[in-house]
Amino acid sequence: MNFTEIANARQSCRKYNPQREVEEEKLFAVLEAARLAPSACNSQPYHFTVCKGETAKAVAKHLTGMGLNTFAKDVPVMIVISERAYSPSAAVASKRKGNDYRSMDIGIAAAYLTAEAEAQGLATCILGWFDDGAVREVCHLDQAVRLIITLGYAADDDVHRTKKRKPMEELVTFL
Ligand SMILES: Cc1cc2nc3c(=O)[nH]c(=O)nc-3n(C[C@H](O)[C@H](O)[C@H](O)COP(=O)(O)O)c2cc1C
Repeated sequence: MNFTEIANARQSCRKYNPQREVEEEKLFAVLEAARLAPSACNSQPYHFTVCKGETAKAVAKHLTGMGLNTFAKDVPVMIVISERAYSPSAAVASKRKGNDYRSMDIGIAAAYLTAEAEAQGLATCILGWFDDGAVREVCHLDQAVRLIITLGYAADDDVHRTKKRKPMEELVTFL
């Protein structure tokens, strides 16, 4: 698949096959893609905690506030992305320019990870709705959790949706 094909095929999966585990080599491929992501000053201010089995189930319990993310109980792997310190140069750049590079870096890493997962035939959903304190406790983390990525195989009856996006003329200005 070329990148445009991956971008069209990837979608947020909210219906997983609970019986199907993720192969180790595929898990490592998606983590390697995230490792290759660019970041401001190459600071890589993030950490990936891979939760499987009972730990994934424990994490899933803290994603479902207000009835959201209930599908998480069937997900075999959760990748919890927590923040790490900026490198000294990224810290200076962020302060001087008043720009939150860390969140951007985490978003880019998540994009790489989910794109590679699609290429590997896996399904993902990026989650921003979770109980930070509770997930930190499950994962033994001192730093803020910023995103959680669900990883597994889509259920057989999970259908591909047509992408809904803003039209190009609203999204882009050519000057
Ligand atoms: C930062 C971020 C947080 C998100 N949080 C959630 C979430 O908590 N639960 C969920 O079901 N989807 C979540 N999503 C998925 C978006 O709803 C989804 O990407 C968007 O609707 C576009 O659909 P698509 O990913 O299927 O193309 C999140 C996506 C991003 C990028």
